[in-house]
Amino acid sequence: MLKTYLMIVLTFMSFGSLASEIEIPDLLDVGDAKAGSALVAQCAACHGAQGKSIASDWPNLAGQNQRYIAEQLKYFQQGERENVLMMSVIPYLKNLSDGELLDIAAFYSSQPLAVGQAQDDEELLALGKSLYMAGDLKRGIPSCTACHSINGAGNAQAGFPRVSGQQKAYLISTLKAYRSLERDAGDYSLVMQSASQNLKDKDIEALANYMHGLYQK
Ligand code: HEC
Ligand code: HEC
Repeated sequence: MLKTYLMIVLTFMSFGSLASEIEIPDLLDVGDAKAGSALVAQCAACHGAQGKSIASDWPNLAGQNQRYIAEQLKYFQQGERENVLMMSVIPYLKNLSDGELLDIAAFYSSQPLAVGQAQDDEELLALGKSLYMAGDLKRGIPSCTACHSINGAGNAQAGFPRVSGQQKAYLISTLKAYRSLERDAGDYSLVMQSASQNLKDKDIEALANYMHGLYQK
């Protein structure tokens, strides 16, 4: 099946101008969203039935990319990423196979995106936008767009998480957890530990406000 698809793509590629319109096939493992929907009953209390969480402190999962969700579930399952509230489902996660974790990821990934509303505070918005888009070279803060994209969609292939529309209080607490090195599950977390080192509380609040209100036009 994949082979046939690749052949079709290659055939089209020879038509030069058409090639740009062909989507690159996703070679990553993909889960089964329908199977995943049967595995998430225990998660709805906090993350909502469709991955839109009930409180600002708890992350939305709707529309997040599969690779990122599956990797984070693996970290929770293995005890590398710790959180008091997620603790309640660790015994359950321990009974799931990698394939089932991927199915859960596929389910949430297929759910409609959450769209947030940024606080309408001119100064805060300006700071958030400028840090997100350009970083601050002098202060050693990288721009966020290189990995999370201009619209906050992240990078599904690479497993860089979507940040647009994410809950604001969660964005704040998790950026602080990277900064304090408390969030340190997996090699990817080192990237964010480094990116967050020079952020002040005010910067984090501004970035969270901006990302919460980001959406794709
Ligand atoms: C009692 C509330 C609660 C329940 C139930 C719960 N979660 Fe969570 N979940 C949280 C909180 C709070 C976090 C944020 C943890 C942190 O800050 O590190 C989280 C984080 C996550 C993340 C990482 C999100 C991110 O953006 O990094 C995933 C994935 C996740 N949960 C999946 C699940 C799944 C699947 C279930 C059901 C098996 C579940 N959760 C059940 C509260 C809960
Ligand atoms: C070089 C790539 C890169 C850059 C630059 C970068 N990030 Fe990240 N970001 C990542 C990766 C990879 C992860 C996942 C880390 C993990 O697995 O813990 C991540 C995770 C996050 C998360 C957690 C998402 C969640 O659901 O828990 C937030 C929030 C975030 N980044 C915000 C930012 C902000 C704000 C900036 C700019 C100041 C930034 N990132 C710059 C790659 C990057």
